[in-house]
Amino acid sequence: MKDAQPKAIYLNDYREPDFRIDTTELTFALEEDSTLVSSKLVMQRNQNAENNAALVLHGQELELLSVSVDGKLLAPEQYEVGEETLTIATLPERFVLEIQNRIYPHKNTALEGLYRSGGMYCTQCEAEGFRRITYYLDRPDVMSVFTTHIIADAEKYPVMLSNGNLIDEQQLDGKRKVSWHDPHKKPAYLFALVAGDLLCSSDEFVTMSGRKVDLRIFVEPQNIDKTEYALDALKRSMRWDEEVYGREYDLDIFMIVAVDDFNMGAMENKGLNIFNSSCVLANPATATDAAYQRIEAIVAHEYFHNWSGNRVTCRDWFQLSLKEGFTVFRDASFSADMHSATVKRIEDANIMRTVQFAEDGGPMAHPVQPDSFIEISNFYTVTIYEKGAEVVGMIRKILGTEGFRKGSDLYFERHDGQAVTIYDFVAAMEDANGVDLTLFKRWYKQAGTPRVSAESVYDAAAQTLTLTLRQMCPDTPGQTGKLPMWIPVQLGLIGGDGQDMAVNVEPASAWTADSQVLHLTEAEQTFVFHGVTEQPVLSLFRDFSAPVKVECEQSNEELLFLLQNDSDGFNRWDAGQRLMLNWIRSAADSQFELTDDARNAFASLLADESLDPAMVSYLLTLPSEAYIAEFSDVVDPAAIHKARKAVQLALAESLQAEFIACYQRLRSDASYQPVAADMAARSLKNLALSYWVKADASGLQQAERQYTAADNMTDQMAALVATVNSGDRAQAQTLLDRFYAQWSGDALVVNQWLSVQAGSAEMGTADYIRSLLQHPAFDWRNPNKVRSVIGAFANQALVHFHATDGSGYELLADAVLRLNEANPQIASRLLGPLTKWKRLVPAQSQLMKAQLERIMAQGNLSKDVYEVVSKSLI
Ligand code: PHE
Ligand code: ZN
Repeated sequence: MKDAQPKAIYLNDYREPDFRIDTTELTFALEEDSTLVSSKLVMQRNQNAENNAALVLHGQELELLSVSVDGKLLAPEQYEVGEETLTIATLPERFVLEIQNRIYPHKNTALEGLYRSGGMYCTQCEAEGFRRITYYLDRPDVMSVFTTHIIADAEKYPVMLSNGNLIDEQQLDGKRKVSWHDPHKKPAYLFALVAGDLLCSSDEFVTMSGRKVDLRIFVEPQNIDKTEYALDALKRSMRWDEEVYGREYDLDIFMIVAVDDFNMGAMENKGLNIFNSSCVLANPATATDAAYQRIEAIVAHEYFHNWSGNRVTCRDWFQLSLKEGFTVFRDASFSADMHSATVKRIEDANIMRTVQFAEDGGPMAHPVQPDSFIEISNFYTVTIYEKGAEVVGMIRKILGTEGFRKGSDLYFERHDGQAVTIYDFVAAMEDANGVDLTLFKRWYKQAGTPRVSAESVYDAAAQTLTLTLRQMCPDTPGQTGKLPMWIPVQLGLIGGDGQDMAVNVEPASAWTADSQVLHLTEAEQTFVFHGVTEQPVLSLFRDFSAPVKVECEQSNEELLFLLQNDSDGFNRWDAGQRLMLNWIRSAADSQFELTDDARNAFASLLADESLDPAMVSYLLTLPSEAYIAEFSDVVDPAAIHKARKAVQLALAESLQAEFIACYQRLRSDASYQPVAADMAARSLKNLALSYWVKADASGLQQAERQYTAADNMTDQMAALVATVNSGDRAQAQTLLDRFYAQWSGDALVVNQWLSVQAGSAEMGTADYIRSLLQHPAFDWRNPNKVRSVIGAFANQALVHFHATDGSGYELLADAVLRLNEANPQIASRLLGPLTKWKRLVPAQSQLMKAQLERIMAQGNLSKDVYEVVSKSLI
């Protein structure tokens, strides 16, 4: 909390460090209510550093006890302690720096640095948390070999962990001392320490070169029956990274620890990943299929970081997407291989279109490689992660799978052990393939979602189709006059028989036949397709080949045709979404009726047993309210809600028999297994149930039967959600009470119970949310609970968040102010929905702005909250 206005940090100001830290030896004495940290750093001045540059170490909220250089205690006048620095002016070329300081983990509510979660100690150092542990060069381009000693009460903390390999253990009267050594040099943000009374599940993995690796998952004792799935997912990830990227694990042990209080999903600390318990713990009775899939993806993501992030790390935090975009891309390919590639693509496109496009069109818009930030924690965004992954995916589309692998091999080989930039990654891709990606790099520097419009003219006599594509990218804060990007347009021309026609395009140089990609590189380009024997239906941006907004006039008939015939599964879904969006737009007065053709098309999808049920489930899912909002010029949440409901009801009623038949066909008495085929069947079955309850009372009865009979959380939760959303408040309350009575002892399940209510259009009014905040199950200190209630409310119960009296906005602002000091990262993340105020209808817009101004008027804003609110009000 600063008095002066927080200042921005610029990429252009990057300078290499003046000093390096060859080895780091840390000793933690975990005492009753504080921790004594001793560090011993073997350092030297870098060659290119100025001779007399002072050493400026980072440190925050540290109680400094002593500083010595080469064994000699420094007098206070030999160093200077600033608010967030420790400066030592005079130092030799090489020296050993020893520092002692005290920290207070019990008082750490920000969950950065060393803190307590439940009965255990744990750390979170990314991005700049290590400086809350001790004074250090806390920047990713300073890499060091770490040795860690932990001294603590032997009974309370039987498990004491840090990165690398265990090298020593000693008993000291009543206390125990353990020592860990990590042979791989790493930046401080990858440091981790855990101490607690934990149990562990173990397994082993034999790497491709035949080395045996111990795998361990540590949990609090009550969770020991929830580790199996993550262990299996870990083994699948390790094998996959060997097979697909040729990457082998590099230590003898790999550990995961589950903690309840965690700001994010998980953290890739070297050899010691720390996970939010919600992203790792599962058993059939407590976790839904969606949770299983999330766990598999996050376990993979953190594991993959061992190469994309740890072995090769980021030079500075402006390069964050170097590790995050690439690693999300890797985990998405992994999930695609484990389940359905098309379904994974649909899910990712949904996130891009609803969350990332909104960010890119709002006040916090930033490029994949930002130019500046005030607080780096605010830049762990969908743009850095998901758009960054899309950009990597476009490189793969351009180079092909083999070329991409050559590029990644070169990248890992060239930069192993280094801290590099996004452009080093691109350079490896270029060099391995002999291509020039100069133009492509604009994707990293220009913020905003490009719009691509398409116009086509068919000439029957000449048998040509002339396609004109135009691109433009809107201005974003601080960036105007954007240049054209290199946009890969994967496409097909579909004939009347539903088959793809052969593509013969001019200029031929703009076409890559392997990937069926047309390269759009200018603001406007015209392409001529030859030998087109009949008027085709255009299928553009297959497989979501670029993260753009597409404007292409197609009639509802053409969309229905694509929905039924496109050989590209992603575009079948996309055509369906566009069609539904048209319906919702036309249902503004809450009236809607399906045409017979549409009804029949959806009916046959529901009955088609040759299709992947997970895919059918998505084909029949209406665009969410957030999705619809993103595709509206001026957002009117109440109108969107009503229109969407009208279309939903029309589908439910006109396809009732088909939904019931589908539901009955997919019911299964086999015991639950978290495997792809069963998950797919459950997803369609439960979608059918959700429509059935809308159609008539028999659906509600079936939901209750399913709820009662369920032996797994997927079916139990689906029945509960269907009931809550049915609008039958009494029945909803009955099931909610039963659910809480059954699960009140399991925190992760209670969080789901909270978010079902908070995120429901039928329940989640601001008043109701305030009552949930009073519930004994709620706790402001636990980020998962805050997200389950406030996050679910503001991001999902959109009609109530946008209540016309402004009560939703006020509630959110209250929450932000309440958390501003205690946990700035969480406070700042909650703000997201308010930052969209300019897109709303005027009355709502003003109410939202007023809440932002109320927050701004508060003195003492954390950097995190200050940055988001101040940028939103410009
Ligand atoms: N680096 C973590 C991940 O993606 C995310 C994270 C960031 C966790 C900052 C904690 C703090 O995988
Ligand atoms: Zn990551």
